Amino acid sequence: MATKKLLLLPGDGIGPEAMAEVAKLIDMMNTELGAGFETEEGLVGGSAYDAHGQAISDADMAKALAADAVLFGAVGGPKWDGIPYEVRPEAGLLRLRKEMELFANLRPAICYPALAASSSLKQEVVEGLDILIIRELTGGVYFGEPKEIIDLGNGQKRGIDTQVYDTFEIERISGVAFELARTRRNKVCSMEKRNVMKSGVLWNEVVTATHKERYSDVELTHMLADAGGMQLVRWPKQFDVIVTDNLFGDMLSDVAAMLTGSLGMLPSASLGAPDPKTGSRKALYEPVHGSAPDIAGQGIANPIAMIASFAMCLRYSFNMVEEADRLEKAISAVLDEGCRTRDVMSEGMTELGTGAMGDAIVEKFRSLSS
Ligand code: NAD
Ligand code: IPM
Ligand code: MN
Repeated sequence: MATKKLLLLPGDGIGPEAMAEVAKLIDMMNTELGAGFETEEGLVGGSAYDAHGQAISDADMAKALAADAVLFGAVGGPKWDGIPYEVRPEAGLLRLRKEMELFANLRPAICYPALAASSSLKQEVVEGLDILIIRELTGGVYFGEPKEIIDLGNGQKRGIDTQVYDTFEIERISGVAFELARTRRNKVCSMEKRNVMKSGVLWNEVVTATHKERYSDVELTHMLADAGGMQLVRWPKQFDVIVTDNLFGDMLSDVAAMLTGSLGMLPSASLGAPDPKTGSRKALYEPVHGSAPDIAGQGIANPIAMIASFAMCLRYSFNMVEEADRLEKAISAVLDEGCRTRDVMSEGMTELGTGAMGDAIVEKFRSLSS
């Protein structure tokens, strides 16, 4: 790849605060390592709505489609609570996912050794945790039609969302899960609710058939998604890769986030299908957390989820595996030295603001690079 075109979409709330720390890394990698990133910025979410009445403009959407990778901060906040549903901040993110066809959302939950005591769960439950949630991202109840509120005319209204999955959607997301499991501990647990949902019955059938046809070397188990949530907090280390639908994946990954100590720790990669000719794929990297309106503007947000999302970008979009490993090592080492943002602060540790945490990680990354 001649150039590495990155589109930065910082968004709202703590999004821009976290993105500023990734921008430091990009600058450092360009000037000191000759990484050759070309960056552009765009608006998404409430900030885009304020500028031009849309959650993402067509021009920025086109930039996202043309970029080699998109880095996304966070969107939303109480300021935009009352605006029309179609242009609410979250619609910008959903449009990006749909139009870029980012059907596979990889949400790793890794408990860094230094944070094993920061989880709300017992240390032995989370110590050494390394699981990967694969969330289907362009289907299911998020996008199924009809999706509306209808007036029943008797003083009653009806809100409708529709859960829809087609065979090909389940096949391709389970393929991603099986492929990734082969590079890890070779286990996939598929979660749905086949006991109450027709889409769950189909999900279970298609995952089972895909496994039988192409991936019988991988260990496959099935779990009802509610029980899966319970097992995630009871003994999460039983899992390797979890594959699930759009809505269950959203909820289960927030649960998994707390196993790692804070929502501010969880990165994600949203990937499209590889181009059959070039092998490259559309991709967007975003922390799992939102715009955190309760702490926005205070300089205390944890930038690690955003920085670790950039590490995933290095690995999956640019095949810079060594640099990705080094960046993850830098995060781990800084935590080992006792540096903490407020969300994971504990006695005897050093509290750092967002900028100082970013600086410490850049500095550690630099020292590991030389
Ligand atoms: P949230 O993730 O923004 O915050 C939940 C809690 O976690 C808050 O107490 C917050 O302070 C804390 N938190 C989150 N990220 C943190 C970080 N990096 N460092 C320290 N603490 C952190 O979820 P919410 O409050 O339910 O949603 C707020 C807004 O964000 C809503 O508008 C929602 O739609 C939106 N949202 C956006 C995304 C996204 O852009 N990808 C994801 C989730 C929620
Ligand atoms: C996430 C968020 C989004 C989702 C919202 C902001 C649309 O919660 O990425 O986890 O529900 O997918
Ligand atoms: Mn979510």
